[in-house]
Amino acid sequence: MTGLVLGIDIGGSGIKGALVDLNVGDFASERVRIPTPKKSTPEKVAAVTARIVQHFADQLDDTTPIGVTIPAVVTHGVVRTAANIDKAWIDADGKKIFEEVIGRPITLMNDADAAGVAEVQYGAAKGHPGFVLVTTLGTGIGSAIINRGVLVPNTELGHIELDGHDAETQASSGVKSKLGLSYSEWIPRLQRYYSHVEGLFWPDLFVVGGGISKNASKFLPKLKLKTPIVAAELKNRAGIIGAAWMAADSLENPDVV
Ligand code: BGC
Repeated sequence: MTGLVLGIDIGGSGIKGALVDLNVGDFASERVRIPTPKKSTPEKVAAVTARIVQHFADQLDDTTPIGVTIPAVVTHGVVRTAANIDKAWIDADGKKIFEEVIGRPITLMNDADAAGVAEVQYGAAKGHPGFVLVTTLGTGIGSAIINRGVLVPNTELGHIELDGHDAETQASSGVKSKLGLSYSEWIPRLQRYYSHVEGLFWPDLFVVGGGISKNASKFLPKLKLKTPIVAAELKNRAGIIGAAWMAADSLENPDVV
């Protein structure tokens, strides 16, 4: 895939965007960040996203693709869930809402799917020939399953049931901060989570992303798994880069996401 694409990553605290050069899998501009509105309704989030597009307006031509991530299930442009964003998103026609405010076509996708695709295209699992399971540890737990380079979208493995609980409420890095857990207190929770996911999916490789992956050396080596587990490489650029990649890909394969 070639060319410049605008990637936008909508997170719990910030909405970030940059132009991405897909030939190298990295930013081709500065990164712009605007805080996510406190009440993250579709209208408010779309308005901030439009400001980011506006920021890059001079650098876009009529055909520049735009990819946007959201921390929710997205099927064919429609947002289906809202674990960590305003509930008004549930069943909202996200693609249409963004396009009306932005005035250009966009591709909308799950945030962890975008980050996962970026790690397989350009990062820790670059060129991996088999089954890669990417998890993102943040406020929630996101997941992406990529087998032989092809994404199975919207896997939502942060919400598997673990000991009677929604897994992300036990093992995310958000829970670590909320409860003030030390690494040694948090690691058994991660162990329980990854052992369970491993037993259900048996991937060839786990990649662990999300903000806390910058401190991966403090917890990944402590996990006892049969599957290799490595830290994501693209760090906080993965969402934007993956959004851009998926937007360009969806031009070639419309209606896939
Ligand atoms: C959401 C996922 C999202 C993940 C990471 C979960 O709570 O259900 O869709 O990918 O958080 O943001």
